Amino acid sequence: SVVVLDFGGQYAHLIARRIRELNFYSKLLPYDISLEDLQRSNPAAVVFSGGPASVLEKDAPRPREEVVSFLLRNKIPILGVCYGHQLIASFFGGRIARKEKGEYGSSVLRVVEKNELFLDTPSIQRVWMSHRDSVVELPSDLVVLASTDYSEVAAYKHRTLPAYGVQFHPEVKHTEHGKTILSNFLRRVVGLTPNWFIEDEAMHIIEEMRKNIKGKVLLAVSGGVDSLTTALMLQKAIGGENLYLIHVNTGLLRENESERVLEILKKLGFTNVHYVDASKLFLERLRGVTDPEEKRRIIAKTFAEVFKDKALQLSHTVGGFKYLAQGTIYPDRVESGATGKATAKIKSHHNVVMEAIPGLELVEPLAEFYKDEVRRIAEILGLPEELVKQHPFPGPGLAVRVLGEVTEEKLKILRKATMIVEEEFRKAGLYEKVWQAFPVLLPVKSVGVKGDVRSYEYVLALRVVESEDAMTASFVKLPWDFLEKLAERLVNEVDGVNRVLYDITHKPPATIEFE
Ligand code: XMP
Repeated sequence: SVVVLDFGGQYAHLIARRIRELNFYSKLLPYDISLEDLQRSNPAAVVFSGGPASVLEKDAPRPREEVVSFLLRNKIPILGVCYGHQLIASFFGGRIARKEKGEYGSSVLRVVEKNELFLDTPSIQRVWMSHRDSVVELPSDLVVLASTDYSEVAAYKHRTLPAYGVQFHPEVKHTEHGKTILSNFLRRVVGLTPNWFIEDEAMHIIEEMRKNIKGKVLLAVSGGVDSLTTALMLQKAIGGENLYLIHVNTGLLRENESERVLEILKKLGFTNVHYVDASKLFLERLRGVTDPEEKRRIIAKTFAEVFKDKALQLSHTVGGFKYLAQGTIYPDRVESGATGKATAKIKSHHNVVMEAIPGLELVEPLAEFYKDEVRRIAEILGLPEELVKQHPFPGPGLAVRVLGEVTEEKLKILRKATMIVEEEFRKAGLYEKVWQAFPVLLPVKSVGVKGDVRSYEYVLALRVVESEDAMTASFVKLPWDFLEKLAERLVNEVDGVNRVLYDITHKPPATIEFE
């Protein structure tokens, strides 16, 4: 595999994603991985990601000594990106310095030395930069390959070892020829031939499940792409008889969502579908709770409880279960700390919490895939297009979009608003063009005037983002006319709301959800 060592950069995931798009298997591993664990991944090449630290700091994240010497000794090709570029230069004795100001955004790169990394790309090209530390002096073993006005050493290679560095981000779309550069590294430097295809991988996993699963499988289905795709893979692998689906209504779902999910499951031919309405319990437990992490914890815990109760009850009537399947996808694991120490924990994501029901073996057919890859698999397995393309919806549901205390009154407002927002986006043909679009109910009221009468009602914020993998996101610059119409509908049709705000922050520094 092609290993990406994660130094905590926002774009670390994107590097792995791009490599997979080029049809090479790639995975993200923590920067301080042990040699033994690294060897287990059988690395054909290693990419050092970007990261927020500075090579100049004493306790800057570095790979273990043993790992570096293993890579160099065995001539395993390495490519440093941004922080990784500086780190590798410093291994060989290059000098890094912090400059007066940084180089952020688009830069013009000039290729100054013909070489395999920039093959099939023009000698002048746009690249995406985001750094202040720079490589200012190279040892004689390293040669400059490309420069920008700001960075003389924007790319280098080692004279005799397969070691390269690029200060810019080839994984980011704004780097015009980034994909070609990554492809050049993998094909020309490493000498790999594309051999990883999602279709084959998915079929292989289904085949493995068919061979290995002997007994009853439980799966919680929210109705999102991940859980539906997991269900379909299992259906294909073991048929419907031993597959038990549970849908829990947390009361934090959108308008008629549970009904819709049950209908979809029926249409897809699932027969053992069990429904639990736990909305009262969730609301009760959330009463008076305002802290976002506390809310998330309560929801996760309650969900696990309700699910277990139902599982127990089911196993009394139909006999014991042997497996617990989950729609966990790759970023869920990574964001919840499965790979890295360099990546800070931002939120307790709900999916990974269910991990253990003692005695049940965990089945996670999507654990290696990114969201767009899951969508591809869903398509192949025949999930209707509108379900494949549905926006992600967080596990804790509307509870993280009703800021502060969650009450039935507020949920009702938000449900109505959510319905209108989705409707308008679909009508305007914008739904599939954005990553997510939803209203958030702020815990404040403001004064307005409706029909000549003073009103004192809630404020909605609209959150609309573009993203490739939810790790970073930009707000969408929607047409004013569309926003105007949407806001009009919201204040006219949703009781209890008299004002609509538009969120114009990117992630980072904001997150996509508000809590
Ligand atoms: P944030 O708010 O962290 O969200 O920028 C990133 C993406 O994850 C979704 N999200 C969740 N998904 N369980 C989920 O399954 C969760 O607890 C959860 N919290 C956030 C969010 O909608 C966005 O797509």
